Parts: sequence; structure tokens; C-alpha cells
Amino acid sequence: MQQVSSLYIHFPFCRHLCNYCDFFKNKLTEGQQVVDFEKRLKVQLDENKILLKDQECELSSLETIYIGGGTPSLWSERGAEFLEKNLLANLKLKDGHEFTIEVDPGTWTPSEVKKWLKIGVNRFSIGIQSFDSKFLKILDREHTMEEATDLLSYLKSEDFNYSVDLMLGLPDSEVIKRNIKSEIDELIKYNPSHFSVYILKTRKNYAHSSILPSEEYIAKEYIDVCNYLASKGFEQYEVSNFSKPGYESKHNKKYWQYNSVAAVGDNASGLLVKQDSAIRYQWKSVGAGCSKEVLTESSLLIEMIYMKLRAGGMLNIDFFQGDNKHAFEGLLDRWKSLGYIKKLVDGDICLAAEGYLVLDSLMDDIFRDLSL
Ligand SMILES: C[S@@+](CC[C@H](N)C(=O)[O-])C[C@H]1O[C@@H](n2cnc3c(N)ncnc32)[C@H](O)[C@@H]1O
Ligand code: SF4
Repeated sequence: MQQVSSLYIHFPFCRHLCNYCDFFKNKLTEGQQVVDFEKRLKVQLDENKILLKDQECELSSLETIYIGGGTPSLWSERGAEFLEKNLLANLKLKDGHEFTIEVDPGTWTPSEVKKWLKIGVNRFSIGIQSFDSKFLKILDREHTMEEATDLLSYLKSEDFNYSVDLMLGLPDSEVIKRNIKSEIDELIKYNPSHFSVYILKTRKNYAHSSILPSEEYIAKEYIDVCNYLASKGFEQYEVSNFSKPGYESKHNKKYWQYNSVAAVGDNASGLLVKQDSAIRYQWKSVGAGCSKEVLTESSLLIEMIYMKLRAGGMLNIDFFQGDNKHAFEGLLDRWKSLGYIKKLVDGDICLAAEGYLVLDSLMDDIFRDLSL
């Protein structure tokens, strides 16, 4: 039996649906929705065991758990009680585990936090997005600056380990001249150990499409932020992730190292990686049951390269052999000359911010020059 030691749980509700968000979620209007969700989750936890067993895998004691959403902080105390009874009663947390929950400002109280700490939560991911009220409004966020500062002050006063989510490329930011560095300066005063920084992705019918900044502006903003966070002691260890030394997200690293991560919750997707194959499964959005996809050897290889390349130091030159290795070394020389490589130590590749920015075109180079 292969032991799987990471679990993702998706909580699919928010108090308000932000107009840019594509994650699976519904508006929470009545308590019954959560009751029904918990019923589905119980079934999924049972079905997950069978699914893993069919693949000769089992959830062993857990090294990482990540509760994402939606807005899992809305699950409140009952969520902690549910998991205590239905998950953690049978499954232990390993020493040195990481247990993260996503929290939106204004959706949590200190007494609820305490309940989650009791069941082993030791890391919080906070959806700040912008630390400027003008952009919170443009972004259609429900939370206020006051709610954000209240939550951050609390996390600081308790000396909790937490990450801040920020978004770049915001509508009107080029015209209004968003001062992202001063937002970061203000946030650092609250002592986060980690930042996740995402460039806003939008669909065609996005309400503010006409006032999005230019590509050049976004590229410069991203590189400025990467450099600025580095100057403040937050090392970039993935396209969107920056941490103080020793505070990288262990759970996210599992994805980038292409390790197995089980998943439960509406629409959540898990991955089981075997020696030469992998299975991705996704729970239905409503009701139990999931779809399964067996990854072919070549799609497995491509996904692995992509995941490893986006995280600093995870892709080694020796991952390739023969002609492919030779072709890859040629690409590395070109990428180096273009300033895309930050470090190359013992064959481990670490991209520079300029490289992360063009990650898709680096993958195109790989498709063109290597036979995968
Ligand atoms: C799925 S959300 C859940 C967290 C929480 N509900 C919140 O909104 O703060 C996780 C993160 O994804 C990012 N995100 C959501 N929609 C995005 C988009 N369209 N483009 C880029 N990042 C996005 C935000 O930074 C958000 O904090
Ligand atoms: S609160 Fe978070 S998950 Fe919910 S709609 Fe907004 S960005 Fe998406």
C-alpha cells in the first residue's frame, strides 16, 4: 500500500461572490447548505477510502491538510467539530504537520480560531488581495480595510503563522497608480511569514475588462513585487509564492513535487501518483461520485516538468536523458542569456521573476526542442 499523507478539503461557500472569481463556490444564504455539504463530505470521505484502496493507496497519518474554498472560515466552529469527529478521530496528524485554512477578513472570530487551533490548524491563508480600500471596492470584495486590519492585528498579537494573498494587475491600477510597495510595507508590519501573489485572471465578460492595465504594466508590477519582497526577506520559491526562510507551504510543495494529494469536497480534485502512472479524480459539484482520469505516460511527464519548473530548485537537469538532456542544456543556455534563470546549483534550476513571467513560453520551448 502506498501511503498518501496530504489532503485537500474544499469548502464551497462564500458570503458574497466576487465578480472576478472562477473557483467553485456558491453563495451561502442558509445553514441548511452547510448541513447538506457535510452529508456529502461524509460520503466522499468514505468513497475516497475505497478509491484510494482500488489504487493500492491509503491515507496514512497526515503531513499536510489544506482547507480551501470558497471561504472555509465561514464553516466556523462546526467545521472544526465535523473534521474532529469524521476525519481526525481515525487519522492522526504527523509530528511537524502543516494544517492550513483559508480565512477571509470579517468572517471569523477569535473563539472560532481557537476551536480550529485545537484540532491542529497551525497556518492561515488570508485573502487580503489589496491593502487599499479603493481597490477592494473595484475588486468587488466584501471585506473592509477595518476588517482586514482587525484580523491582521489579531494574527500578529497571537504570533500565528500566516500567509497573505495579494492580487496584481487590478482594474484601474495603471491609471490610479496603485502603490503596491507601500501596501506591502503596511502588511509586513503585521508580521506575515508568507505571501501568495496572483496576477488577476479574467474572463471575456469581466465587468472591468476595459480598465485593466496593459501587459507591460502588469509585467513590471510583477517583477517589482518579486524584487521588493526579496529585499524584505521573502524568498520567491514558486511563481506566486514568497516566504521567510523555513516558512514555505509544505502542502503546495507536494503539488509541485508531484506527490500524491487526496481531496474531498464539492468539485475538489485529487492526484494519486504511482511509479509510472497517475490518476486524477474530481468530485462532482453536487452529490457524491467522482470522475477519474488516468494520465498517460507522456501527459504525466509534461505535467511533472511544468509543476517542477514553476517551483525553484525542483527541476534538475538530470530529469532528462540522452538527446533530451542535450536539447534541454541548449535551452538553459538560451534562458540564461535572456535573464530567465536566477540560480543553477548542482543542476537544480531556479527561475528568475523574468522567467516565471514567461513560464508558458518556456514550456513551448521544451515542447519544440525535446521529444516528450
Ligand atoms: C479561491 S480564493 C479563496 C480565498 C478566499 N475566499 C478569498 O477570496 O480571499 C484563493 C485566492 O485565489 C486568488 N484568486 C481568486 N480569483 C482569482 C483570479 N480570477 N485571478 C487571480 N487570482 C485569483 C485570490 O488571491 C484568493 O485569495
Ligand atoms: S471570497 Fe474568495 S472564493 Fe469567494 S468569490 Fe471571492 S475570491 Fe472567490
